Amino acid sequence: MRVLVTGGSGYIGSCAVRHLAAAGHEVVILDNLSTGHKELARGYELVVGDIADRKLVDGLLKRVDAVMHFAAFINVGESVKNPRKYYENNVEKGLALLDAVLASKVRTFVFSSTCAVFGVPQALPMTEELPREPINPYGASKLFIERVLESYSVAHGLKYAALRYFNAAGAHESGETGEMHDPETHLIPLALRAALGTGPALKVFGDDFDTLDGTCVRDYIHVSDLAEAHVKAVEYLNAGGEPVALNLGTGKGSSIKELIALTEEVSGRKLPHEYVGRREGDPPALYAAAAKAERVLGWKAKRDLREILRSALEWELKKSGVVGK
Ligand SMILES: NC(=O)c1ccc[n+]([C@@H]2O[C@H](COP(=O)([O-])OP(=O)(O)OC[C@H]3O[C@@H](n4cnc5c(N)ncnc54)[C@H](O)[C@@H]3O)[C@@H](O)[C@H]2O)c1
Repeated sequence: MRVLVTGGSGYIGSCAVRHLAAAGHEVVILDNLSTGHKELARGYELVVGDIADRKLVDGLLKRVDAVMHFAAFINVGESVKNPRKYYENNVEKGLALLDAVLASKVRTFVFSSTCAVFGVPQALPMTEELPREPINPYGASKLFIERVLESYSVAHGLKYAALRYFNAAGAHESGETGEMHDPETHLIPLALRAALGTGPALKVFGDDFDTLDGTCVRDYIHVSDLAEAHVKAVEYLNAGGEPVALNLGTGKGSSIKELIALTEEVSGRKLPHEYVGRREGDPPALYAAAAKAERVLGWKAKRDLREILRSALEWELKKSGVVGK
């Protein structure tokens, strides 16, 4: 298939591009480089532009069979302080992209959603059927697009997969792409930088949660596992599969204390860290029920937390050499 990948110069999109190409699909990337890096698209066709540029998108849609929509702003804390920025980029521009899709012949659409659409989960592990009650504008912006997809599939025959990632982490095996957010707010790069001495001591928000060791529990999923799920999802839709929303995680939660211990083991270094108070809105535990994705797509995560940390460490060490070349 020929696939338009919005946000393909970002972390997860650039990894998906490589897995699509490896599976024999053709890729064209559309990215405005607002948070992405053109180095991550090296070797692939990159069109620099905005998803809301209708003329540009109309032209690109003539060349493809499907869209994978990664482009968005992703920083939860920033979305609380500046919600307009998130509603504009994730909702308004997402709607503009979908307008262009509906006006085209393309009917296959894979959407980057998030476990943040659920807010504080009412049960664990988190199944697809839990109530969706996001607790921040980022999660609300993603839920809005999920609802748009649901109604466009009924009204316009749009075939979509809304893939709700848990905590994406790790780097592609080629060493060509990995996590490069600025500012970085995700735990694993921050933990590795603390261990390597290239960043400050890790702040652990809260050690008095009702979890096994008091720290937050999250489901870390390797970015290449996510990318493989995208390839399977687009192929599933192309083969006539029904529109679907799937939670993508490993099904296993890890606490921050466990993650710190494993980071020390993998890096061979002490990880300086300090416990500070809880952050508002952090649920104690989030982990996916992985059964539906396996049933629908025949997909399940293959890489464990050790592999996530190993690849992320390699990427952290290599990164300064990759960017700007
Ligand atoms: N990183 C995670 O743990 C995580 C978890 C759940 C969901 N997601 C979702 O996955 C997607 C990708 O996240 P990421 O971590 O790769 O983020 P990222 O910031 O690395 O990538 C986003 C890319 O989209 C581009 N972009 C943003 N707005 C655009 C626009 N209007 N037009 C064109 N390009 C635009 C950026 O330049 C960037 O390259 C996002 O939709 C995010 O909400 C990420």
